[in-house]
Amino acid sequence: MKQVFVNGYGSIGSRITAFLKDDPEILVVGVGKYSPDDDVNLAISRGLNVYVPEKKLDDFKDFKISGSIESALDNSDLVIDAAPGGHGYKNKKNLYEPRNLPAIYQGGESTMGDDAVSDLLFNSRANYDLAIGKHHVMQGSCNVTGMGRILEPLRDKFGDNLIRFDVTLVRRWADIEQTDKKLSDTIEMTEKPHHGDDVKLYFGKDAPLYVRAIKVPTRQMHLHIMDIRFKDTAPKPSEIHELFTNEFGVATLWTAKGTKDVRDYAQNMGFNFTDTNMIHIHANMTTSIGDTVQMMYSDDQTGIVIPENHMLMQAMLFEKSYADAFAHTESIFHMVEKKQKLQEHFAKKD
Ligand SMILES: NC(=O)c1ccc[n+]([C@@H]2O[C@H](COP(=O)([O-])OP(=O)(O)OC[C@H]3O[C@@H](n4cnc5c(N)ncnc54)[C@H](OP(=O)(O)O)[C@@H]3O)[C@@H](O)[C@H]2O)c1
Repeated sequence: MKQVFVNGYGSIGSRITAFLKDDPEILVVGVGKYSPDDDVNLAISRGLNVYVPEKKLDDFKDFKISGSIESALDNSDLVIDAAPGGHGYKNKKNLYEPRNLPAIYQGGESTMGDDAVSDLLFNSRANYDLAIGKHHVMQGSCNVTGMGRILEPLRDKFGDNLIRFDVTLVRRWADIEQTDKKLSDTIEMTEKPHHGDDVKLYFGKDAPLYVRAIKVPTRQMHLHIMDIRFKDTAPKPSEIHELFTNEFGVATLWTAKGTKDVRDYAQNMGFNFTDTNMIHIHANMTTSIGDTVQMMYSDDQTGIVIPENHMLMQAMLFEKSYADAFAHTESIFHMVEKKQKLQEHFAKKD
């Protein structure tokens, strides 16, 4: 059994930990907390050991913490860093590299420039094998992960017939748990979004992919509006949808009026954290006009990267084949079952 520490217990860290606790191959050493707030007791009530930075031990004297993050890392085989963007790099330099400890980083970090945490941006659909046995790898962000689940199957099927992808990312303002973060009544434009460059790290640096992004006041998922241009006449919508029939983490829905419908269904079905852990093609919005297919899919902002982290951990810790890692992740996340339920609930009505 391997020992894994999760450094950070926010939206991402709390989800990753919940699933890791169900993994018989993993012992969760504990989680790292940096602020002495209610989440410390929440984590403890969930049966987790909470560790805090050595120099902050005094701030946590009113809590039943288990020790310092530094000591927890000494007893770990791998750390999953779930820090706010930018802190992962500092943790790498100050905590993980000095211990020669393998680490997974989240999408708020970078794989380019001086503060790069890794030279590999992971997407299980595109480059699983490259992560096998590697020491430092960054999991792509939610939008970057979602785009891969659409682009890779399209490329596998249509290859050189694809001319260009234009994507508008409509990004959610805040996460469901971030109740203290107010939604602003505005549509915010994002200058030079990083998502296109990030996707090209696994999709190819010369890929004809053009990405724009805006942010809207909702907590209910991201939506990607994608136009795909073909060399000749574009395939019919049914041919596009068919491609995703057996794709991991892609559900095809016909009757969801909006992203909140999908979230509400996940909540009613008791899905963990109300996550679907996948993207949802809104099939009623797919059209084929001349040489172009227009489509929209929503991206479960926080949930989507959790099974990806689990796949990545298996590549790094156990050097498993894609098939073995996939089967194990499926046994814990039940993605096939969730997909089927979502598709049945939002099925086409004749
Ligand atoms: N939220 C999403 O939908 C989403 C999706 C994909 C990727 N990501 C990426 O995942 C990462 C984490 O995001 P999040 O949404 O989970 O953030 P979050 O909810 O703000 O949680 C961040 C957590 O990190 C802890 N922390 C603070 N300083 C730290 C440090 N120096 N080292 C380690 N942990 C530290 C915080 O502890 P305290 O609360 O105790 O201060 C908190 O528990 C970011 O890179 C983000 O871009 C987020």
